[in-house]
Parts: sequence; C-alpha cells; structure tokens
Amino acid sequence: MKIGCVGGGPAGLYFAISMKLRDPSHEIEVFERNAPGVTFGWGVVFSDLTVDNITRNDPASAAIITKEFAHWDDIDVHFKGETITSGGHGFIGIGRKRLLEILQERARELGVALHFNSECDPADPKWRDYDLVIASDGINSRFRDAHADGFGVDEDVRANKFVWLGTSKVFEAFTFAFEETEHGWIWAHAYRFASDCSTFIVECSEDTWRSFGFDRMSQDESIAACEKLFAKYLDGHRLESNASHLVGSAAWLNFKRIKCERWSSGNVILLGDAAHTAHFSIGSGTKLALEDAIKLADVLNRPGLSLEAAMDEYVAERNLEVLKLQNSARNSTEWFETLERYTHFEPLQFAYSLLTRSQRISHENLRLRDREWLEGVERWFWKRATAGKSNKTAPPMFAPFKLREMEVMNRVTVSPMAMYSAVDGVPNDFHFVHYGERALGGAGLIFTEMTCVSPEGRISPGCTGMWNADHVAAWKRIVDFVHTQSKAKICLQLGHSGAKGSTRLGWEGNDVPLDDGNWPVMAASDVAWSPVNQVPRPMTRADMDMVRDQFVAAVKMGIECGFDMVELHAAHGYLLAGFITPLQNHRTDEYGGSLENRLRYPLEVFAAMRSAWPSDKPMSVRISATDWAGDNGITPDEAVLIGEAFAREGADLIDVSAGQSWAGQQPVYGRMFQTPFSDRIRNEGKLATMAVGNIYEPDHANSILAAGRADLVALARPHLVDPFWTLRAAAQLDYRDVAVPPQYLNGMSQLARNLKREAEMAAALRV
Ligand SMILES: Cc1cc2nc3c(=O)[nH]c(=O)nc-3n(C[C@H](O)[C@H](O)[C@H](O)COP(=O)(O)OP(=O)(O)OC[C@H]3O[C@@H](n4cnc5c(N)ncnc54)[C@H](O)[C@@H]3O)c2cc1C
Ligand SMILES: Cc1cc2nc3c(=O)[nH]c(=O)nc-3n(C[C@H](O)[C@H](O)[C@H](O)COP(=O)(O)O)c2cc1C
Repeated sequence: MKIGCVGGGPAGLYFAISMKLRDPSHEIEVFERNAPGVTFGWGVVFSDLTVDNITRNDPASAAIITKEFAHWDDIDVHFKGETITSGGHGFIGIGRKRLLEILQERARELGVALHFNSECDPADPKWRDYDLVIASDGINSRFRDAHADGFGVDEDVRANKFVWLGTSKVFEAFTFAFEETEHGWIWAHAYRFASDCSTFIVECSEDTWRSFGFDRMSQDESIAACEKLFAKYLDGHRLESNASHLVGSAAWLNFKRIKCERWSSGNVILLGDAAHTAHFSIGSGTKLALEDAIKLADVLNRPGLSLEAAMDEYVAERNLEVLKLQNSARNSTEWFETLERYTHFEPLQFAYSLLTRSQRISHENLRLRDREWLEGVERWFWKRATAGKSNKTAPPMFAPFKLREMEVMNRVTVSPMAMYSAVDGVPNDFHFVHYGERALGGAGLIFTEMTCVSPEGRISPGCTGMWNADHVAAWKRIVDFVHTQSKAKICLQLGHSGAKGSTRLGWEGNDVPLDDGNWPVMAASDVAWSPVNQVPRPMTRADMDMVRDQFVAAVKMGIECGFDMVELHAAHGYLLAGFITPLQNHRTDEYGGSLENRLRYPLEVFAAMRSAWPSDKPMSVRISATDWAGDNGITPDEAVLIGEAFAREGADLIDVSAGQSWAGQQPVYGRMFQTPFSDRIRNEGKLATMAVGNIYEPDHANSILAAGRADLVALARPHLVDPFWTLRAAAQLDYRDVAVPPQYLNGMSQLARNLKREAEMAAALRV
C-alpha cells in the first residue's frame, strides 16, 4: 500500500514503523511541518502496560526507549505550607524530543521516508494518489477539521489555562505545587523525564490568569512571572518554553477534549490526538497514540480482512479504550477546574482528593501503593470523626458520625426503598422482618421507605403511611425492635406523591395509573407526569395548609414511635419536588417562577416539621440535584442553593439524589454516578451530605468518605439482596469492631477467616 502519514508525532511515526514491521513492501511517507528535533512539550509519562504493548510490537525501539526511562515512585503534594508525600505510584517517563528521535531513527532504518518542514494541506490533490492518508496531525488536525462533519467531531474547550514548560531542576518525585495568591490559586505539575530535566506545567483558572495579566504578557514575561511564583520549588533553576519556534503552537492554551463519531472518511484515517484527546493531568495521550498505531497496523495487515472490516475493528476496540480514559480524564479535568471547592481541606485530605480525582485510583489501590500513608489518612479521618478521641487506623466507613445529639455508629445507610406491601398504609410483618433484618445487618442508619402523610398522598395502594394510630403502633413495633436488638438508628422518610400518586405497585408498573380505584391527585400545577397519568389539580393555599399540617402531624406521630431522625422527601418528582422543578411548576403566584419562589412552599413545610421535631434530633431532606434536563430543569449549580436554603431552615443533612422529576430525563449512569452532586453541595455549600446511587463496594464507600465527597453513603439495591452488606464489608476489610448480633458471631468470624485466606491466596498467586 502507498500511505502518507500527516504529522511526525508519536502516532504517525509509530504507525509507519508498525506497518513496515508487518509488511516491508508498504510504501510509507511521513510529512512533518516542523524541522527534526523541534517539537512542543517536554516529557511524557507511560504506564507498565504501554511498555508491554510496545515491547511486543517492536522490541528494538522498545529496548532503547525503556533503557532511557526515568523512574520515580513518590508523589509530593505541596499545599498550604505542607508537603504530603505518598509512595508506590510507579511512574516512567521519557523526553518527548528523545522519544521522537528514537522513533524517527527506527522509521528510517525500516525504510520509511521522512519529510520535515513539510506543511500538509488537506486540499492538495496529491492525497488522492495515496491508498491511505493517515491523519496523525495532532489535536488541531487540519485533516480532521477539513471533514469535520464526515468524522462527527465533538470538541470541548476546557476552562483552565495551562502552559507546558521545562526546567533543569530535577524533581525526585512527581510534584504538584499549589500556590494561593492574591489573584487566586495557581499550580504546577512537575516531573523528571531525564537525568537533568523536568516537565513543568503551570495551570490556573481563566480568571486567575487574567487577573495576573498573563493575557497581556509576552512569553518571556509569562515565564519570568512563573519562575517568581514557583521560586521556592525551582531552587534557582530557570523555566523554559519550546513553543516559540514551532509552527502552529502557542504558549498558554486551553485544553481541548476531542472525540469523533467516525475515524475514517474517504481514504483518510484518524490516529492519535487527531481522533481523541485525554487531559494531560492523567498523562495518557502518547499511550493512546502508540496503541492506536499498533491496532491500526494489525488490522490493515490481517490477510483477508476488507478495509471496511479493518476500520470497524480498529474503531470498535480503540474507541472503547478512549471512552474509558476520557471518562477518567474528565473527572480529573473537572477536579482541577473546581479546585477551589477543595482548598478548605486539610493538606492530607486535599492530597487524598487529588490522588483519587479521576476515580481510577481508589482507597484500596492507595493501600496497595503505600499502606503506611493510607493508614495515616485513616487515622486522620477517625480522629476528626471522633473529635480527637480515637486514634484508630480503620476504614472510614466504620467511623461514627454525629448529627445533633444522634450518633450513628458507622457511615453506611440503608437508603429509603418503597416496598409497596402495606394495606391501608399500615406496615405489617413483612416490614417488621424487612427493617429488622437490615438493622441486624450492621448499617449505622436505616431509612424507612417514603411514608405518606395522607391516603391521597400515597404513590400506590401499597405505600406505608403515617396518618392514624394504627400506623403509629405498627411503626413503633419496628422502631422498638431496631433499638432493642441492634445499634442502628432509624429515620422516618415522609413524603407526598403529588402528580405521581395513584399508581400501581412498583413491580406492576412504575408510575402507571391503577386499572381502577384511582383517587384524584394534586400538585403545584396541572402538569401530568406523563400522557397516561392524571392531570393533577393545582394546589390552592388551603390545600397547601392542609398538606403542611399533615406533614407536621406525621412528624408528631414519628416522635411517638421513637424514630431517631426524620427526612422530608423533596426529590424524584413527588409533591414537593414538583414545586421545586420548573418542569412541573408552572405557577404564576409567589410559589412559581424564580427558584426562590419555587422553594417557598417546600421550605415552609420543612420549617413547620422542624419546629414540631425535637431540637436534639436531626432532620434531613432528600433532593434531586439535577433533573437531567440540561438548563431546562434543576441544575447541579441550583442544587447547592437548594441545599443551602433547607440548611437555613434547620436541615442537618442533605440526602443528594437525582432525577426522576420528569418522564423525559436523560440520566448518565455509572459507578457512584450521583456522588459528584453530593461532593459539590458538601464542599461548595459547606453542608453535611449523604451520597447515593450505584455505590456498591466497600471501596467506593471508603473512597467517597475519605475524599470528603459525602459524610454518609446510602445503598439501596445492594441492601435488597444483602441485608448484611455492612457486616460482609467488615469481614472483607478485616475490621472487627462492628456491631454483630451475638447470635451471629460464629458466622461472622468464619466469613472473616475465609475471606482473609482467599485474599492471601490471591496475593500469593499475584506474586
Ligand atoms: C501539557 C501536555 C502534557 C502532556 N503530557 C503527556 C504525558 O505525560 N503523557 C502522555 O502520554 N501524553 C501527554 N500529553 C499528550 C501527548 O502530547 C499527545 O497525546 C501525543 O503527543 C499525541 O501524539 P500524536 O502523534 O497523535 O500528536 P502530536 O504529538 O501532536 O503530533 C502531531 C504532529 O503533527 C504535526 N502536524 C500537525 N499538523 C500538520 C500539518 N498540517 N502538516 C504537517 N505536520 C503537521 C505536528 O507538528 C506534530 O509534530 C500531553 C499533552 C500536553 C498538551
Ligand atoms: C425498590 C426501590 C424503591 C425505592 N423507594 C424509594 C423511596 O421510597 N424513597 C426514596 O427517596 N427513594 C427510593 N428509592 C431510591 C433509592 O433510595 C436510591 O436512591 C436509588 O435506588 C439509588 O441507589 P442504589 O443505586 O444504591 O440502588 C427506591 C429505590 C428502589 C430500588
């Protein structure tokens, strides 16, 4: 095949090498706009896996690359005058210029024609003479942008400014240096890539950048300013740029996330940064470029594979890798973009939050990397959780948490879950066993299902209620069992279904109206939940008074039952959520319109409940932190304001859920998918929060808590099939100080022994 590669970066060169290795008869030319030895950037970081891949693909170039690698293990985080060092991170890096030299030499040796100082124009007719044109022309690819529609390009220009500099100062550890200045926070990512050289990337928000006047400075002035700012880390060494003598490069940049729906159009195939980018803070762009090159060369040389089938396989495999990395990279990018959310943390927690920012590294990964450091974090967590009384080294999920005078023994919560099994709202033996069993299972806090304040306020005929003496007696029996047979606390969740009322039992059709016996429903406005649901009656002020008083009456019954805590359900599109979201609230009075107006009634209900509930007992509110409707519904920004508004009325905890507030929602699911909303409300609003949503492993819980993303974690579905989730987690983590019912002690110790033995065997096999 006759192939032209546009761009002599890692992708283009390594593809040319990989093609020649598979079939020397290919005619391959690489065109690079810059001169040899002139390139942007300094060092690049690799992973062990990438090294394995390039060694298998071309042992000759891999041998030279790996011989020249700089290795380092530690990460230093400099923050507020402290240096937090953690080890075991195992990085390898090489200078970008040196990497390109090695690849150029190898390409020449294999017979690839290299043309430097050769700017390529996609409109040039010469490209028609090539069987394939490989667009390996980097992030600003002209070849991709010339056919942007054909490739389905999606570009996202990120908020922060960065400049990629180098220095002769040799950093022994991967260094993050954060500096607080009168213009805001500015920081450096620095690492050694040769025995005498380090990369030094400076990053800050656009506001800080402008406030410093970087927008008006020449490159030399910018560099001088950075040298002054980071003088204490540079020990007199200078910072340098290599961008000035480059074609198409600038000093300060905004990172651009690229993804493409299609990777080929006509005879042009995208490779490396031209097809996709991953933020530099997770250091994987070069790895992706090299692995793309290997895969593309593989499929193009596989006998019998058509070009179409080859492209399908190339894109399917590489796209999956890219999506995984871009997901982590997005988390990491956002962490740096919202840095000020975390700058109130103590240095140790700040460093933990930084290390776990991409969600690829978890609590247990950190334990494997540096056990001693992680145990230091755990001790710090316990000390804070117990106001200095405990010096325990144990997983954060088992640390106590206090809200007003209620102390939960650990941070695991059984999230509210409707069981649709009551008759006339009265909980029965099913509920007694259900809640009792979960209380025995070790969680610190058990929530009841949404318990409705009136018969009309039920979602379905099977919902539990709290409006008469039968309810009080039945709930009291459950609460008494929890208090006498376990150490768990129990919270009563109170709600009213609003527009989502009068529907079938959950498993007979969520939100589907009853076949017969429907009751009239009311809501903020006459907006039906869906075309098949009833149009609700807009509430009058008299209705609002009545419902508020029903909530207060239910709270008073909750006191009689002995509940430890009460939660107001203002999420998921039910009555109060229907006031908060503009998607359901179309009122034109003082309860509709602005967020302040839409919150007025839910806050009034909360305040009335709070004054009826004992002041030594806590109250929480469950909210939907987004309607998953873009700017048309509640946004995560507004969720912070909503959390703050309830906190002003006395909410001690914001239970941060999301969505279910309109039928057309577009949720983005995934592991711990709602935790970012909790993180935001906790750290921007400085409020206690509970995170919920696809948190299912002890490692998730510990990572969320230690990183300060929530104060409690709630698990719903995992508790349906495993009431003993917390005890199992304790056995798994070899944590002994957990509340095991004495009747079950033998089972617990056997489980712990077996799990420990299995872990030891797995570790021995790994060695
Ligand atoms: C600040 C920063 C830090 C980074 N750190 C890391 C890291 O630690 N680890 C890592 O793996 N990755 C890192 N990356 C990403 C990495 O640099 C890229 O992912 C990688 O270079 C992609 O390789 P590529 O060959 O696809 O593109 P590039 O390396 O950008 O190469 C494209 C080449 O095409 C040439 N070119 C462009 N247009 C034309 C044209 N019209 N005609 C001729 N030639 C053209 C360019 O001059 C360039 O040489 C970092 C990136 C940045 C910005
Ligand atoms: C069967 C079932 C019933 C639920 N009922 C309620 C409820 O009554 N009140 C409430 O606030 N959330 C309810 N939820 C939502 C859960 O509390 C939780 O937010 C959601 O399931 C996500 O958590 P998970 O991924 O751990 O399951 C229910 C969830 C399930 C699965």
